[in-house]
Amino acid sequence: MRMRKLAWAEDYLKHSPFVAAKPSEHQGKWKAKLSGEKLHVEIGCGKGDYLVEMSKRDPQSAWVGVEKDPNVAAIAARKYDQASDTQNNAALIVGDAQEIEYWFEPGEIDVLHLNFSDPWPKKRAHKKRLSHASFIARYARLIQDQGEIRMKTDNASLFEFSLLQFQEGGWFLHEIHMDYHKEAHEEDAITEYEQRFMNQNQPIYQAVWKKYPYINKDKKKR
Ligand SMILES: C[S@@+](CC[C@H](N)C(=O)[O-])C[C@H]1O[C@@H](n2cnc3c(N)ncnc32)[C@H](O)[C@@H]1O
Repeated sequence: MRMRKLAWAEDYLKHSPFVAAKPSEHQGKWKAKLSGEKLHVEIGCGKGDYLVEMSKRDPQSAWVGVEKDPNVAAIAARKYDQASDTQNNAALIVGDAQEIEYWFEPGEIDVLHLNFSDPWPKKRAHKKRLSHASFIARYARLIQDQGEIRMKTDNASLFEFSLLQFQEGGWFLHEIHMDYHKEAHEEDAITEYEQRFMNQNQPIYQAVWKKYPYINKDKKKR
């Protein structure tokens, strides 16, 4: 759903220190720029609740959000700029994830997050889903070999579709929850959409895929 135009958005995005105006200039250098040991990227970060909160909870990592709607992105930028206790370890790219290969280098990303991606229910629009095979192939080039993709959604059809797309892409399903909030997940912040669905008592589907099968080192030694 498109958000209404905000008169202040364009100007705000031009001046916010949180916004990476020329993201391709940081390609291969995000960890150095944001002083992070790992690089987390959230695609479709919306109004930035998850990005802002996780960058505070995990200041050892670099956090980059990608949001294509400038009106929504401006709200995320203002949220980060006004937040207290931020550690300058996060940045926002205002652009379409289709361009992702211009912004990150192969192997640069450690963890990629897809939180409540648009479901695009009509079959002819499935190619726009952020977990469509064409997007997964792009992510695969940019995520390091031990890296992972984490997804949360309320949408059963999108979840089912994503499970198949990742399987076909050769990704290893490492974790899956059909009702994520049955147990507490204190390490993981709640997104704006997640809170809405939780308020309606809707189950949240969650999965983590690893680029390659994760072999438990302890088991390997035996
Ligand atoms: C349903 S909202 C979810 C927002 C947030 N992740 C949350 O959980 O509250 C999906 C967001 O993804 C953004 N989005 C959709 N397709 C995108 C793309 N190709 N590139 C970047 N952002 C995209 C939309 O503009 C929208 O703000």
